[in-house]
Amino acid sequence: MSRLPRRLLAPTPGWTLQADVCVVGSGIAGLCAALHARAAGLRVIVVTKVNIDDGSTRWAQGGIAAVLDPTDTPQAHLSDTLTAGVGLCDEEAVRILVTEGPDRVRELMAVGAEFDRNPDGSLSLTREGGHHADRIIHAGGDATGVEVQRALHAAVRGDPGLQIVEHALVLDLLTGPDGRAAGVTLHVLGEGSADGVGAVLARAVVLATGGMGQVYSATTNPSVSTGDGVALGLRAGAAVTDIEFVQFHPTALFLGTAAVRGQQPLVSEAMRGEGAVLVDRAGLAFMRGVHELADLAPRDVVAKAITRVMLAHGVDHVFLDARHLGAAMLEHRFPSILARCRAAGIDPVHEPIPVAPAAHYASGGLRTDLDGQTSVPGLYACGEVSCTGVHGANRLASNSLLEGLVFAGRIGADLTRSLPPQVDPVADDAGAGLLDPAIRPELSEAMTTGAGVLRSAGSLAEALSVVDRFGTRTSTDPGPLAWEATNLHTVAAALVTAACRREETRGCHWREDFGGADEAWRGHLLASIDENGVLEQEFQPLPTVVPA
Ligand code: SIN
Repeated sequence: MSRLPRRLLAPTPGWTLQADVCVVGSGIAGLCAALHARAAGLRVIVVTKVNIDDGSTRWAQGGIAAVLDPTDTPQAHLSDTLTAGVGLCDEEAVRILVTEGPDRVRELMAVGAEFDRNPDGSLSLTREGGHHADRIIHAGGDATGVEVQRALHAAVRGDPGLQIVEHALVLDLLTGPDGRAAGVTLHVLGEGSADGVGAVLARAVVLATGGMGQVYSATTNPSVSTGDGVALGLRAGAAVTDIEFVQFHPTALFLGTAAVRGQQPLVSEAMRGEGAVLVDRAGLAFMRGVHELADLAPRDVVAKAITRVMLAHGVDHVFLDARHLGAAMLEHRFPSILARCRAAGIDPVHEPIPVAPAAHYASGGLRTDLDGQTSVPGLYACGEVSCTGVHGANRLASNSLLEGLVFAGRIGADLTRSLPPQVDPVADDAGAGLLDPAIRPELSEAMTTGAGVLRSAGSLAEALSVVDRFGTRTSTDPGPLAWEATNLHTVAAALVTAACRREETRGCHWREDFGGADEAWRGHLLASIDENGVLEQEFQPLPTVVPA
């Protein structure tokens, strides 16, 4: 494997801003972390890649899973989460998620988020794959993320102690003489004083940059999801774990072979929660018999079953049949999905919706403790960029917004407890590098073909050879396209290396050459970049479970 950069090649920062806390990212994780830090009286700068609402949160359709029904229990939510995670969840992290979650959701409602309600005023709860109870709250039918983003934006807007810097691509971590985070460098496409490459100095940095779906050629993630936070963390020496577990959403809207590039429209799992059924081209409901929950089996099971049908029939999509739900129900409950389908000439009221799996969610990321701290002091990670241990080998549906809410709260509490004074960052250009942005299309194609839903030793070796080859396609021309391509390459290198090494099928890591989960592989692969730019990997087995 070629050496990976330990810094992005970039001009020297030409301007500086300062705060107590720098939050990178403005979805649910970033804005909640910022609100908690503000509640503790800390000055906060939120930097965000494009506009404040351009991250993944806005695209969330399904909702937020939380125990809000008196007949449901945190234990049941914990049990469903552990089952989906196939032996790799950190049970303590999951316990925190399911017990602290309901209060964090109530706080979100207190800052103004409005969720759908039943005629009697109670919250309308639905079900998604892997859940044995109705525990998903939603807003605007299928526009949960839009409402969450709106409410959080309204809560931070106008606060003089919170500055928002938009159009800001984060580059690298700044550290003090003791290695503690001291801020970030970033590139701002702006007007006025903060333009070009600059620095935000801070006593702590919270990465909430979202996912890395753009490392694949087709994803439900927006264009900003280029793995910037994971790549930055790796370059800063932080450990990444479970990165091989990429969740493919079973039902992205299929708009024809030529359109399967970049962000794909999502057809929420909640549609199956309300009774829609996956069928093959002959109309056969193929999930029955595959799993006791049929169409509501955990997401990896459904994505695999769809892929099997597509391979067996030599087709590139299957169908989601929602016609029996009726026009009134579909229009009330799924207005955004209906509008998107109809814009493409498909009417779900009268015809089945063509769907295919697409990369959706990184279950792994920067490893954190239960307070969101990465292995680099003062560097926190929250939301999809992190690996708190709640998802294991496969995230349970609608646990991601919940994770952002819960762990942002814990980061806020930790910042209140321990925030040393600002230190001056030490200059460090060692290991700076940059790749040619032209690698990007071929890199993402190679990732989809070799490290997608279906993987094998052969397919992964091919993906790895492309990643390795592109590691030598260097550039000396810094700019957003080259920085993003370099980040994607770093993420791809860590992902494929882990996927090659994990010789089993578990959760959303499906190896065609290994039939199932292997107890010897029940553990975590940790990756980090050493001071020479070498990607190092270590396997940490989990204690064997002795049956009671
Ligand atoms: C969906 O609405 O199907 C996506 C929800 C999630 O990813 O948890």
